[in-house]
Amino acid sequence: MELLWQPGKIGPMDVKNRVVRSATNEHLSEPNGDFTQAWVDTQVELAAHEVGLVITGHICVDRTQRNDIGQPAIDRATDPALLRQAAERVHAYGGKLVMQLSHTGIKAPEAVNGRPPKGPADFTAEELDQLTENFVFAAKLCRDCGFDGVQIHHAHGYLLSEFLNPEENTRTDEYGGSLENRFRLPGQIIRAVKEACGPEFAVLVKMNSNGCGDLPGALRLFEESGVDAIEVSGVDFAGRPGVKEPFYLKDLLAAREGIRTPLILVGGMFSRETAEQVLAQGIDFAAFCRALICQPDFAARMKRGEESACLACNGCYRVYRQRGVRCVQHAEPIPQLEKLFST
Ligand SMILES: Cc1cc2nc3c(=O)[nH]c(=O)nc-3n(C[C@H](O)[C@H](O)[C@H](O)COP(=O)(O)O)c2cc1C
Repeated sequence: MELLWQPGKIGPMDVKNRVVRSATNEHLSEPNGDFTQAWVDTQVELAAHEVGLVITGHICVDRTQRNDIGQPAIDRATDPALLRQAAERVHAYGGKLVMQLSHTGIKAPEAVNGRPPKGPADFTAEELDQLTENFVFAAKLCRDCGFDGVQIHHAHGYLLSEFLNPEENTRTDEYGGSLENRFRLPGQIIRAVKEACGPEFAVLVKMNSNGCGDLPGALRLFEESGVDAIEVSGVDFAGRPGVKEPFYLKDLLAAREGIRTPLILVGGMFSRETAEQVLAQGIDFAAFCRALICQPDFAARMKRGEESACLACNGCYRVYRQRGVRCVQHAEPIPQLEKLFST
């Protein structure tokens, strides 16, 4: 019996299979950060082709600190109509929809935002409380628009991953130093979001297997904070072009002892066989990013036994901020992107 197509559970969320679309910055906002129809269509297309859980690209909870000109922001200026539409249409295909919420931290270019980026040391305690409020506001809006949950982004060098990283978090107050202190802000945000959104709304996190200082300790703290699932990636995910094996599996297997929270692994999976091997080791969900950039219907193809056409070349990562062709191997641009960039 194949594990990939078995239903799974993430907190209150019943997921029809074990296939997750790992968050992928769609680069599909209006220049001011508003959501677009093309962004909605991208989520729906994945659900229409067998992705059980669609996690959106990272959405910035502070419009003044976006990662790039195509990254959506979520705040009081966000029009809920497109978000509602996204949730309804993903649900119509039997999929679940989770928004990844993020603060860009030191990776927010001044050229995009007109102001310098902010790392952990640049926030006052009041600003950290405001940031927590921003995450809470965004999560409540997602819940009210019919999303199934949010994933709070703690990976890849963005702000919350910097807080966890002992080398990047230089604070000397209660938010820096020991793992417990570095976890104070993530824990504060998770608890506030959970309290505001209630038990019927899933709260997930994505974290680095490396770059957090202490993977077993961080997994434990996330579990104690009550998250519904932990997705494990790595700070260096873009540094392994051509590698088609689950490159964070070993670290996760070594660190997960005693963890009962559902685990999602991402990184280097491009085939049904590999994903099955990962699930067979007790990982609950298999997440895919580049395979689904290359072929948004990859999950359906995988179900039919097809291999991914993705070369894992990382071309998509290099070009996606510059132009609307996501997979550099595609002769044809992805239609939604073509439409957006031609207007
Ligand atoms: C073009 C591109 C955009 C990405 N955007 C995000 C993002 O918004 N949030 C996130 O957590 N990870 C993002 N990632 C990382 C992926 O989710 C994933 O962790 C990584 O690509 C490894 O998975 P893969 O081997 O299946 O591609 C992005 C990766 C690529 C290539």
